[in-house]
Parts: sequence; structure tokens; C-alpha cells
Amino acid sequence: MNSVTSLDFAKRDSRPSAGGRIQIQGVNKYYGESQVLFDIDVEIAAGETVCFIGPSGSGKSTLLRCINHLEDIQRGCILVDDELIGYKIIGGRIHEMRDNEAARRRIDIGMVFQSFNLFPHMTVMDNICLAPVIVKGERKENVRAFAAELLARVGLTGKEASFPSQLSGGQQQRVAIARALAMKPKVMLFDEPTSALDPELVGEVLAVIKDLARNGSMTMVIVTHEIGFAREVSDRVVFMDSGRIVEQGPAAAILAAPQNPRTREFLAAVI
Ligand SMILES: Nc1ncnc2c1ncn2[C@@H]1O[C@H](COP(=O)(O)OP(=O)(O)OP(=O)(O)O)[C@@H](O)[C@H]1O
Ligand SMILES: [Mg+2]
Repeated sequence: MNSVTSLDFAKRDSRPSAGGRIQIQGVNKYYGESQVLFDIDVEIAAGETVCFIGPSGSGKSTLLRCINHLEDIQRGCILVDDELIGYKIIGGRIHEMRDNEAARRRIDIGMVFQSFNLFPHMTVMDNICLAPVIVKGERKENVRAFAAELLARVGLTGKEASFPSQLSGGQQQRVAIARALAMKPKVMLFDEPTSALDPELVGEVLAVIKDLARNGSMTMVIVTHEIGFAREVSDRVVFMDSGRIVEQGPAAAILAAPQNPRTREFLAAVI
């Protein structure tokens, strides 16, 4: 791959006032009768990179999906740059937004899933250009030029005309990252972006994400089982267990000297 280490585009392309501050306040989430998130309070500063770690089923993906309102919440609220996500207040009461309104709020929030989710019938270039053209109404020529920059950034120059099935998993995930970046989001959410990859392909995707964290000005929220990566990339680590935040703090402190017995147990098992 090329050019993933000397990248300055995120700085260049981010808005002048970077934005992307996330406030998660008293969030409770149920699936039916079953409560999966309990009084979650986290504040993530604009430009901060935070990794969420914790055992399977602890609610990491659910929380991430609540941040862009792919999931509703039953109590509490989530704000990005002081604006509610997924809900609005009318006459002093909180109402869920209609899908199109929620989608509009989601424009500033990019998400990368474990399973790439590229459109299989579209080329790499079309995958990247679709949303900016359709959702933001940007001019196709401009978007294509930006997409070419993004492809260089994720080390995939030359793959513009390929279809997803012609790429490795690591390459597909890098296209998925470029596709999210094409919307110039203020916030990027990553849900275990490397856990569907063969081990030898993990490094190339982590390198791209590390670069974004170091050189970009976006806020990044990353769910990961890659503890070494979390240590390197994050300003802060949040440990979740059974739907609750158990411990959080600077990566070095939490990972080297966890205070909570659940964190200690988890780290002892995964490291
Ligand atoms: N769509 C759903 N309907 C009902 N329950 C769900 C749904 N999605 C998740 N859950 C439940 O919510 C809890 C939290 O799941 P979640 O996927 O957020 O965990 P996770 O921390 O991301 O786990 P993993 O590390 O395995 O990805 C689990 O008990 C799970 O079974
Ligand atoms: Mg998950």
C-alpha cells in the first residue's frame, strides 16, 4: 500500500471549527424487556480518539449505534456539537425524529462496520462517490477528485474501477473507510473494523485508522479488541461490562494498571 503514513488531508479538509464533541448523558437502552445499556455517561471532546473495550455482549456496538441513532434509546440523550441525535424537543417534550431528519443529523457521523458493507454491484469509485453526490448534492467531478485523494490516503490508488469482490478484506475495509471519509464527517465511529479480517490484513487497516487519529481532526470512537492498537491510538480507553461503564481513563493508565477487577480480568484474558 502507498501513502498511508504521510497524510495531511484530514487537517486540510476538516471544517475550520473542527467540531465533533459528543455528549452521552444518562443513556439507557432496552431491547424489548431486556436492558442492555445502564446510565451511560461519557463525554468525548472534539478531535479526541476514544477506544471502547470490554467483553462480548457488554453493549459496545449498541452504544456506538446509538451515537448515530441506528438504535433508539429509552432514557437519556446523546448530543453532537450540542445538538440532539435522533430526537428533538417540541413543546418541552422529547420526540424521536423521522427517519429522514435523523439521517440528516447523521451526515456528520461516519461509521465503519466489521463487515465492510460495500455495495457489491458498484465499483470502488462509485461506492465512495455515491453518498456525497446523492445525499449532499455535491458535483460528481469534485467528489471524484476527492475520492482519488482518499484512495491514495488509504493506499488504494489504481483500484478505482475494481468491484468489492475483486479486493481482499483489508482492501475492502480501507474502501469502506474512504467511503465514510468522503462525507467529511466530524465524527467517525468504528465497530471492530478489523475483526472480520485475516490476521495478516489487520495491520494495513489499523495503520490507516492510526493515521487518521494522529493527523486528522475528527473525533474518533473505536470499538476494538486490539488492545495494543487501543494503547497506541487512543487518548482515552473506556471499559464496558454488562451494559455499564466500569472504568475509563488515559490508555496507558487503564491498560497498564486497571483499578477495577472486571477490567483486570478482561485484560488478563486478552493480552
Ligand atoms: N438487535 C438486538 N435485539 C436484541 N438484543 C440485542 C440486539 N443487539 C444486541 N443485543 C443484545 O444486547 C447486548 C449487547 O450487545 P452488543 O452487540 O452491543 O455487545 P458488544 O459489546 O458489541 O459485543 P461483541 O464484543 O460480541 O460485539 C447483548 O446482550 C446482545 O445479545
Ligand atoms: Mg459488538
